[in-house]
Amino acid sequence: MNSLKTLTLSESRSQSRSQLPILERKNRTSRLRSLPADLDRQRLPRHVAAIMDGNGRWAHQQGLPRIAGHRQGAIALKELLRCCKDWGIAALTVYAFSTENWQRPRGEVNFLMTLFEHLLRKELAEMQQEEVRIRFIGELSVLPRSLRAQVEQAMIQTAGNQAIQFNVAMNYGSRRELVRVCRQIAEQVQQGNVAPATIDEALIEKFLYTAESPDPDLLIRTSGEMRLSNFLLWQLAYTEIYFTNTLWPDFNRAEFHQALLDYQNRERRFGKTQGPTCIEKDC
Ligand code: FPP
Repeated sequence: MNSLKTLTLSESRSQSRSQLPILERKNRTSRLRSLPADLDRQRLPRHVAAIMDGNGRWAHQQGLPRIAGHRQGAIALKELLRCCKDWGIAALTVYAFSTENWQRPRGEVNFLMTLFEHLLRKELAEMQQEEVRIRFIGELSVLPRSLRAQVEQAMIQTAGNQAIQFNVAMNYGSRRELVRVCRQIAEQVQQGNVAPATIDEALIEKFLYTAESPDPDLLIRTSGEMRLSNFLLWQLAYTEIYFTNTLWPDFNRAEFHQALLDYQNRERRFGKTQGPTCIEKDC
């Protein structure tokens, strides 16, 4: 972990550039710019969520420090955002930093904060040009001041964009989100604006960070981990979950294509049954 302190952003960038087959990846993915013919445009998820896991392991496999994995992970994220936009998916929500991630070594946390700020500054103009509406969800007040300023500027500047909604969960924890919702509703009750008996799911949803987006249809988690890790617990109630062993930095268009094929092969029931509804033995 000491190497984190000594590797700067630009060094890690040049390391990952020189050691990765990025051109090869670009060539492979450029064939998939338009929606692949085996995907049904009518049955695409409207909202995709992703737990971008495996950056550290990817770096370890390449003999690089963990931060090189985060940098490469950011490249994979940019590609996924572009792909969602190209293929007509309306919203993408990613877990960039959880409330628990503060417990990582200080050097890694500092690097991630610097990376987020650097990326935002670097990518904002392009996101604006590509009509991306970016929104950060989570407790943003505790982020470093300069990152917070960048985050706020990005949200204000892109607020009118329509091509795709891009939600970035930063210092986000779903249980904390739900506690926050409870507090806000309790205040409304206290002020006499809401009667307890009228509290329902629709009201709770109005107070969620994601109130403006439909619930995710598809959650992707990379790196073989099979848990939700306190991500969007309410919103994922009926979401299809796709787990893959691929490490996040390797998650490219071809991998996303596979995830969508898998999604389109599933039958979404939302608790209902499919087929005959009779309950007699001989029906
Ligand atoms: C999890 O991998 C990844 C993170 C905690 C950071 C994710 C951040 C990025 C991909 C950069 C995205 C940038 C923006 C602006 C949103 P891990 O470190 O837990 O990997 P490991 O499980 O292999 O150790």
